[in-house]
Amino acid sequence: MKKVVCVLFGGKSSEYKVSLMSASSVIENLNRNKYEVINIGITRDGKWLRYYGDIEDIINDTWYLDNCSDILFNPCKDGGILEIKENELIPLKIDLIFPVLHGRYGEDGAIQGLLEILSIPYIGCDIASSAICMDKDYAHRLVEDSGIKVPQSLVLNGNMVKEDIKRFSEKAGFPIYVKPASEGSSIGMTRAMNKDELIRGIEEAFEFDNKVVLEENIDGFEVGCAIIGNEELIIGEVCELELPNGLFLDYKEKYKVKNINIHIPARIDNLLKDRIINTAKDIYRILGCSGLARVDMFIDKDESIIFNEVNTMPGFTTTSIFPKMFISSNMTYGEILDQLIEIEIGDCK
Ligand SMILES: Nc1ncnc2c1ncn2[C@@H]1O[C@H](COP(=O)(O)OP(=O)(O)O)[C@@H](O)[C@H]1O
Ligand SMILES: [Mg+2]
Repeated sequence: MKKVVCVLFGGKSSEYKVSLMSASSVIENLNRNKYEVINIGITRDGKWLRYYGDIEDIINDTWYLDNCSDILFNPCKDGGILEIKENELIPLKIDLIFPVLHGRYGEDGAIQGLLEILSIPYIGCDIASSAICMDKDYAHRLVEDSGIKVPQSLVLNGNMVKEDIKRFSEKAGFPIYVKPASEGSSIGMTRAMNKDELIRGIEEAFEFDNKVVLEENIDGFEVGCAIIGNEELIIGEVCELELPNGLFLDYKEKYKVKNINIHIPARIDNLLKDRIINTAKDIYRILGCSGLARVDMFIDKDESIIFNEVNTMPGFTTTSIFPKMFISSNMTYGEILDQLIEIEIGDCK
């Protein structure tokens, strides 16, 4: 009997479209000799639908118009997920869920909580770890507590305290990064070059979150380390992002890549590479990650490693950085998926 793997895509997040792209690649590449694949989409307003149509309509974002049936949850023991078909409730046998969802409700512990209540195993970090990694402030505090450097920051909870902001900007100097604490894909984020831009940036960030983080600018370059595993960790090649001066990795750069150069492997010596990998593994464990995550860090002018963030569901298209880091260390995209599944439910040969 083949194991049934259910791919979740879409979701009530500003990264809905990113999820459609990631999930399309996952659905296309899951090995049908090993797994039976079920697709469930979540619309922008949160409706769950089992989807029977083509991958193209996921990519075009027309998937929910046709070839769908409604979904219900039954939280009772072994109740799980039910499909409504011709007025009948049909329990879905699912061995494992792959929530290919980015951002809020997907990466923040919410979906993980729902799946725990439904007793369905899933790929990726658990509730607590997802929630902590999603909040840039909490993640920084825990990592800093273990002696790893993080950028200087000021956290604003719900309102602007002008005095604090002034003091912070004098200490940190411009540019200052302004981030909603719990967004991804650089949404709501700005790089303020002066006081006016800072105030405008904070107002904008508050439209996305009631917690906003101001961060000093780290002068250096960005690296990422891709990790798969629970106790034993598989590490991909370290990647380096090369950005022209004054630019940062905003939404445009992330998804329409224009000015950024991605180097996999990173152009660094082995000593620094080992330090990056060891720090990334430490961060993965400190934040209680499991399944997979991409740990992003800055390397400053003195080659110090400074933690930026952990993405617990990094972009997952065949050309996204996370898979490419493993592909570069001689795994195929399909093997990456096999590994993720194997960690949770064993080898499905
Ligand atoms: N403190 C910082 N110093 C320098 N660059 C930063 C800093 N914070 C963010 N950036 C830039 O902004 C990008 C997006 O910020 P990040 O915190 O990773 O948000 P997201 O979760 O949206 O990816 C980073 O990849 C980097 O280019
Ligand atoms: Mg980032």
